[in-house]
Amino acid sequence: MFTILFSSLLAAPAAAISNGLARTPQMGWNNWNSLGCDVSQDLLLDTSKVLLDSGLRDVGYEYVVLDDCWQGERGQNGYITYDEQKFPNGMKYIAGKLHDMGFKYGMYSSAGEMTCARFEGSLDYEKEDAEIYASWDVDYLKYDNCFHMGRFGTAKLSFDRFNAMSQALNATGRPILYSLCNWGEDYVHTWGMSLANSWRVSGDIYDHFDRPDALCSCNDPRDPHCVAPGSHCSVMNIINKVAPYVDRGGPGGWNDMDMLEVGQGGMTDSEYVAHFSMWCALKSALLIGTDLRKLTPNTLTILNNPAVIAVSQDPMGRSATRVRQDFNVKKDKYGQGEIQVWSGPLYPSDQLVILLNAADEDLTMTTDLNEIFVHEGPEGSAPHTKHEYAVYDLWADRMDERQAEKILQGDFKKYQKGWYNSTETPYKEGLTNRDERLMGKKVGTISPKSPELSAKVPRHGVKMYRLVNLSGSSTRYMLHKQEL
Ligand SMILES: *[C@@H]1O[C@H](CO)[C@@H](O)[C@H](O)[C@H]1NC(C)=O
Ligand SMILES: *[C@@H]1O[C@H](CO)[C@@H](O)[C@H](O)[C@H]1NC(C)=O
Ligand SMILES: *[C@@H]1O[C@H](CO)[C@@H](O)[C@H](O)[C@H]1NC(C)=O
Repeated sequence: MFTILFSSLLAAPAAAISNGLARTPQMGWNNWNSLGCDVSQDLLLDTSKVLLDSGLRDVGYEYVVLDDCWQGERGQNGYITYDEQKFPNGMKYIAGKLHDMGFKYGMYSSAGEMTCARFEGSLDYEKEDAEIYASWDVDYLKYDNCFHMGRFGTAKLSFDRFNAMSQALNATGRPILYSLCNWGEDYVHTWGMSLANSWRVSGDIYDHFDRPDALCSCNDPRDPHCVAPGSHCSVMNIINKVAPYVDRGGPGGWNDMDMLEVGQGGMTDSEYVAHFSMWCALKSALLIGTDLRKLTPNTLTILNNPAVIAVSQDPMGRSATRVRQDFNVKKDKYGQGEIQVWSGPLYPSDQLVILLNAADEDLTMTTDLNEIFVHEGPEGSAPHTKHEYAVYDLWADRMDERQAEKILQGDFKKYQKGWYNSTETPYKEGLTNRDERLMGKKVGTISPKSPELSAKVPRHGVKMYRLVNLSGSSTRYMLHKQEL
């Protein structure tokens, strides 16, 4: 009863697309980053088994999304078919298997005459394609932007092209999460939320932390006229692109910073931790991109940290925002180097703080209450700066790699000690009850008397904190008061 009452109090205004989905950023897996066109029925079923047995389903990774290259011919009747070599039992069979395991099934197409890998696209066949996806019990559509026959260049042209599929999906009557992949073109951050549950904000990610690559164009993130955003965009490039409009995401529709590279091998552990932390804090769609059949213990301990995922799945759905960016630091061999501080509200009345060190050396970074709450009022004018906060380190209780190794060896039952099961206890409930697995570890307090938060942050790494308000009544008590 408590939960129900409180959710009605917190209910956000109706999202523009009203299919009821993605009230928190979608979580799942997509094959593209690691496997490209190498797709099959076995891949999807084997991957789902890993998601289940490793416990990843039960920290929230629920969508299994098949990317490009599944298509067969388009028949005379206008309906698309699937490749019977790769998918001998068809798509409805896969959907059924996934649903039985507690997953949802995602598929892919493009708002063009062809998909990016030159299979049949959906442009001008939106109705037929939406109908057939619904008939296959599909729950999610990633919708790309290749071969659009020149129907782009203004927000209206792109809006109309992507809206055709939005309308067609709606007309099927089946709730299908609609994930736009138009690479941030045509100001999608100004209209994506009107018709979709997420929208990509940049060219394709690649497995590097900050190396500029000529294939990732539009390197000035402030250039709103970016055409052909490309691929090979680094983690830092994407963070800097989305920074000015992180607030456009919210319950029902999210910025999509592209699929995760965690586990792919091109970055250090610190870099992957930073990449994952920022995707959670900025409320990006959260799709694992690595080949899970080769999942390593190290990768598992990044992807399964419930204290960090709880930030992504926060019931308020507000992104952190950048409160500082400073380039006056040591540069790496690519000429890159900067530090950033991010901050933002968390449910129920907490505050997220991230110290992001993208300089080419370990650094001690310091922030304070005035900076943390600058968006509530500059120069310490925010009332929030007058209170005392407990500081929790969200990575301090990261799973031990040996425990992860045992889990991957198939001994989940024996080694699941401390596991947070979000299927059983949704994040909102865990946060309301201050479940300690979602809090990380208390490492100190800050207050008007000692307002600084300072930490050693590894090169290309983050420190990520949850601040809990200690002033006045307890949070729990405040919630009950609101309930009355
Ligand atoms: C279709 O759109 C209407 C109006 O926005 C909405 O009420 C309904 O839930 C949508 N249906 C689906 C299946 O998305
Ligand atoms: C999580 O809880 C669900 C529902 O009780 C259960 O079916 C599942 O096995 C649990 N998962 C883990 C990893 O313990
Ligand atoms: C912290 O608690 C005090 C006292 O209950 C309250 O006035 C204040 O708004 C809270 N601050 C935040 C950031 O929630």
